[in-house]
Amino acid sequence: MRHLLSTKQLSRDEALQILDVAEDMATVNEREVKKLPALRGKTVVNLFFEDSTRTRISFEAAAKRLSADVINFSAKGSSVSKGESLKDTAQTLAAMGADGVVIRHHASGAPQVLAESGWIDAPIVNAGDGTHEHPTQALLDAFTIRRRLFGDTSRGRNLKGVSVVIVGDILHSRVARSNLWLLETLGAHVSFVAPATLIPFGASTWPATISYDLDTTLRETQPDVVMMLRIQSERMNAAFFPNAREYARIWGLDDARLATLRPDTMVMHPGPMNRGLEISAGAADSARSTVLEQVANGVSIRMAVLYLLMSGQS
Ligand code: CP
Repeated sequence: MRHLLSTKQLSRDEALQILDVAEDMATVNEREVKKLPALRGKTVVNLFFEDSTRTRISFEAAAKRLSADVINFSAKGSSVSKGESLKDTAQTLAAMGADGVVIRHHASGAPQVLAESGWIDAPIVNAGDGTHEHPTQALLDAFTIRRRLFGDTSRGRNLKGVSVVIVGDILHSRVARSNLWLLETLGAHVSFVAPATLIPFGASTWPATISYDLDTTLRETQPDVVMMLRIQSERMNAAFFPNAREYARIWGLDDARLATLRPDTMVMHPGPMNRGLEISAGAADSARSTVLEQVANGVSIRMAVLYLLMSGQS
């Protein structure tokens, strides 16, 4: 594996290798000194053309815990706002000696362009591109599910037979797409639930069950995992549902719906959350919620990805 551009590209063995190396990284993250010398002397560039809190900070923490030098580049305040192209930006970073590039971009496919362009000779990691993919988010989600289900015996295990219901703005969600491909590869079953307006054209060909009725899906599947997605208002140029109150009532995970779930059903959200819209405060803060575990596990997963791509171990 030279780059990590999507979960669709990952074989089951490659996905399990990342999850298992992340187990090793998690043990490092439990130590008092959370540091390995693996990438000493290497430079990781975090290239963020879109806003981020969790992903940007956790890639930075991951690179630093592997002893790499880190350069953080944000499009805001850079020469991108003066019209500089992705090519010129990439060539500038190459000239500065980047050994690995983490890129988030509003355009679907931008990481692939960078990987195939020859503008920079370094592993490229997709940190979210448009509505296409967010592979490290899906990997950290799978890692979180596996750890909750199997604990200390997680290593080497897939997610065969695990039932995951993903609810909300599927249309604009790179998290939904990356999770679908990875969960399918690992043997889980995915159901998407959303208003018809937020299901992408062509989704009927995906390896997922599609439903518009959350209560029926939750009752019939009794899922292991309910993953709520953020309503991405910033990507919406039309009215996709009547209003926020109606959306929360029909498709939100409120306290009443939370009470109908199995006691061990995990409640996931990639963040940032719209509390009171797709998820109630009670659900977000409940013992079933894995939201903060997902953030913590994100560092271990990103350490594993950077280590495998940049140390030549994959
Ligand atoms: N989940 C996620 O990608 O969050 P950020 O946008 O804060 O990075």
